[in-house]
Amino acid sequence: MRILVLHSCVDATARPDELDTLAVADAVCDALRQNGHSVTRAAFVPEQLDAKLGDCDLVFNLVESVDGQDELCAMIPALLEKRGVPFTGASAAAIQITSDKPASKRILRAVGISTPDWYEGPNWVGLDGSRRYIVKSATADASLGLDDSAVVIGSGVGARAEVCRRRFGGRWFAEAFVDGREFNIALIEDQSAVKVLPLAEMRFVDWDDRRPRIVGYGAKWHTEDPAFRATERHFGCENLEPELSASLHMIANRCWEIFGLSGYGRIDLRLDSCGEPYVLELNCNPCLSPEAGFAAAAHQAGFDYCQLIDNIVRAAIP
Ligand SMILES: Nc1ncnc2c1ncn2[C@@H]1O[C@H](COP(=O)(O)OP(=O)(O)O)[C@@H](O)[C@H]1O
Ligand SMILES: [Mg+2]
Repeated sequence: MRILVLHSCVDATARPDELDTLAVADAVCDALRQNGHSVTRAAFVPEQLDAKLGDCDLVFNLVESVDGQDELCAMIPALLEKRGVPFTGASAAAIQITSDKPASKRILRAVGISTPDWYEGPNWVGLDGSRRYIVKSATADASLGLDDSAVVIGSGVGARAEVCRRRFGGRWFAEAFVDGREFNIALIEDQSAVKVLPLAEMRFVDWDDRRPRIVGYGAKWHTEDPAFRATERHFGCENLEPELSASLHMIANRCWEIFGLSGYGRIDLRLDSCGEPYVLELNCNPCLSPEAGFAAAAHQAGFDYCQLIDNIVRAAIP
């Protein structure tokens, strides 16, 4: 097939999480060529889209933000749907809803899937002055704005949200801090059925206990941050804890269905101190870096990187 790999438009001065899209595009292009496709790549610029589409058979959609705004990503599948060009990953509707964390949480609540309590400004009604919260972006991902100071008690929420709004723009909300184990659940469409890949637990090893246990921006993107090495991915939950594994599979499959995910996706979830699972967020088109969690989970399931990319392409063919 003739495949156009479309990625975010970023320049050399962009943040590490934004630059990552270029490295991922390189890896995906290599894999597609190894799989026998004819590949072109382009940064997404709205007015150039039609020219870039040319006579391609399919778009591999790696666009994570438009003009630095993650929530505008739904524009890409929307434009491709309108033109009838097949593309990988999630639909415009699924991206639209999941790229707004409070909006997804309202749906999770409505269907009875547990998600931590949350509070929104400007009045922050309901916050408990002595309880711990994490202040996070409603629409950005990649742990943007999540450092140790993101975890505050109720009386500090308003000030923290304002600091983040000034620095990064956008809406910020507070979510009850869930101080327990963390899991990333990768899902992939395989021969028209969704398959949950091996569950990855993010463990905090030799952790500096003065710091909140979060996979923050430093842990994801700054190799010199001690948290980068102190957050380790572990597999094996299916054999060691079959009941927990079954319950996480059920939650992940329901999320896939309810939010209308397609191609591939990832659910981030935490257990509270009693072991109850709470969904933190849903990721359409999660990062496909060969070093990142999705490829690691696929590898555990026996897919090498080229097979993973091939699966994603096959799922996109109408
Ligand atoms: N309610 C929460 N309680 C505890 N930790 C959280 C909570 N929400 C987020 N975190 C931490 O912050 C990380 C990033 O948050 P997440 O909601 O997954 O946003 P994103 O990955 O899109 O930036 C999580 O992986 C987790 O370590
Ligand atoms: Mg996440």
